[in-house]
Amino acid sequence: MRLSTSPAWEKLQQLAETNSTIHLRELFAGNAHRFKEFSLCHDGILLDFSKQRINSEILTALHQLWNSSDAPDLISGMRNGEEINLTEGRAVLHTALRYSGPKPVMSNGMNVMTDVRRVLVQMEKFCTEVHQGVWRGATGQPIRRIVNIGIGGSDLGPKMAVRALAAHGIPQLRVEFVSNIDASHLLSVLCDCDPATTLFIIASKTFTTQETMQNAVSARAWLVAALGEEAVAKHFVAVSTNLDAVAKFGIDPANSFEFWDWVGGRFSLWSAIGLPLALAVGMGNFRQFLAGGEAMDQHFFSAPVDQNLPLTLALLDIWNTNFLGADTRAMLPYSQSLELLPRFLQQLEMESNGKRIDRHGAVLDYASAPIVWGEAGTNGQHAFYQLIHQGGHLIPCEFLALIEPDVDLPGHHQKLLSHCFAQSEALMTGKTQSEAEAELGHAAAGTSTDRQRVLAVNKTFPGNQPSSTLLLPRLDPYYLGQLVALYEHKVAALGALWNINSFDQFGVELGKQLANRLLPMIEGNAPLSGVDSSTTGLIYACRRPAKR
Ligand code: F6P
Repeated sequence: MRLSTSPAWEKLQQLAETNSTIHLRELFAGNAHRFKEFSLCHDGILLDFSKQRINSEILTALHQLWNSSDAPDLISGMRNGEEINLTEGRAVLHTALRYSGPKPVMSNGMNVMTDVRRVLVQMEKFCTEVHQGVWRGATGQPIRRIVNIGIGGSDLGPKMAVRALAAHGIPQLRVEFVSNIDASHLLSVLCDCDPATTLFIIASKTFTTQETMQNAVSARAWLVAALGEEAVAKHFVAVSTNLDAVAKFGIDPANSFEFWDWVGGRFSLWSAIGLPLALAVGMGNFRQFLAGGEAMDQHFFSAPVDQNLPLTLALLDIWNTNFLGADTRAMLPYSQSLELLPRFLQQLEMESNGKRIDRHGAVLDYASAPIVWGEAGTNGQHAFYQLIHQGGHLIPCEFLALIEPDVDLPGHHQKLLSHCFAQSEALMTGKTQSEAEAELGHAAAGTSTDRQRVLAVNKTFPGNQPSSTLLLPRLDPYYLGQLVALYEHKVAALGALWNINSFDQFGVELGKQLANRLLPMIEGNAPLSGVDSSTTGLIYACRRPAKR
């Protein structure tokens, strides 16, 4: 049965209609226990979803939607190493990367845990050698700068995590990230690096991605120009599933860290793709990060739907997207250390679930992933919050805050929290015109002039903007692991419910193909033919020297 014709889906449609005029203010006024009823706590992580436009009937119907669907079976298939990534014929086993138990985890008749643990030991040895100055550059100096060259899943996760855990960083080592093919990115990092103390990690699942390969070639040329060809062995390591291509590039196989095709790029932070994180914070902290991920796995796989954090987040996305019609979700971490989380989630959520074809090849008759965007608070308040409050769009918001600050100065953290909580309150309650008039002090006296009335209308806020708030006890490796795994499972649960394959990404292929076709034309090595007039015009404009 199609999801959209299931009784649970139809029930939710009815509930969306019958509740369409109810305001969040009224829901709070009518139920003193809303917070208690619509919040969950797991291992110190609090999810308050009482400011979502739901009631207990809607929540129960969402639970029924999950329980009556095939999604729980798909999630079990993921856990058991089945090839649930049908289009690529692969298992989806990133949870094995953080599993510490004694059981085998099988894929294609092999226990993947043997390889997982071998690479963790290799990472540990390498990190220790770099930290203790045993691993030295070609001139005998210790490594002081790590430059990770990768893009997408080989960049966004480790970059976000290194930034998030900066307070746990090993002081003598700086970790930088280069992803863009724009030379400005690589050059802006290299201009501040000493070749003798710099180590490059070339991170690419496929080891064919054009941006990464071009940046790797240029970085290699920069190093060789300074220290000679022999230096490459001491200044380049690679992380990939394609060890043949790594060897062809000229990186010593002993300096290669393997991962496997059953790890999706955007789910790969737990593998050797996390090497920059392990170097930045130490392997002990990296193992804590894995432990946090594993704790969230246990919760996700065992907690009942009404207690399950990732499932609750997923079902709220379903409600807002498919029944209230929201097509975006704002991700608003009130933590500067988590400033890169929205970008990481953009790939995780939109590359996974931004799809219109179901697992059987049929076009979906409902929306899938909303557009994810956002910015750290309080910065976003001074940029785009105006639109969220008064722009008239339905924008579900996800606030995130730390109970205990990771870094602090007197007077900062409480103010930060006050803004976070005030924003969700303001989005929920809004401000009526009569409240605005009362504030302006002229309504009661009936002295309102036209200008005053216009002013009061401008100062009203419709409110009723749904939001959730996630509170982490603190931002340490363990809770970062919980947080990342929470969103990974939310994404998997959503994909399973929408009946799409969350683990392929064919939508990125066409642009790559066309860029390969255009490149020789832009270089002037191929005739400009078979190209539309817009693209032809743009290529000509770049070929001609600019005239002023
Ligand atoms: O943009 C598509 C993509 O394949 C992502 O899914 C992936 O994370 C990124 O490119 C980088 O790929 P690789 O790690 O193979 O270089």
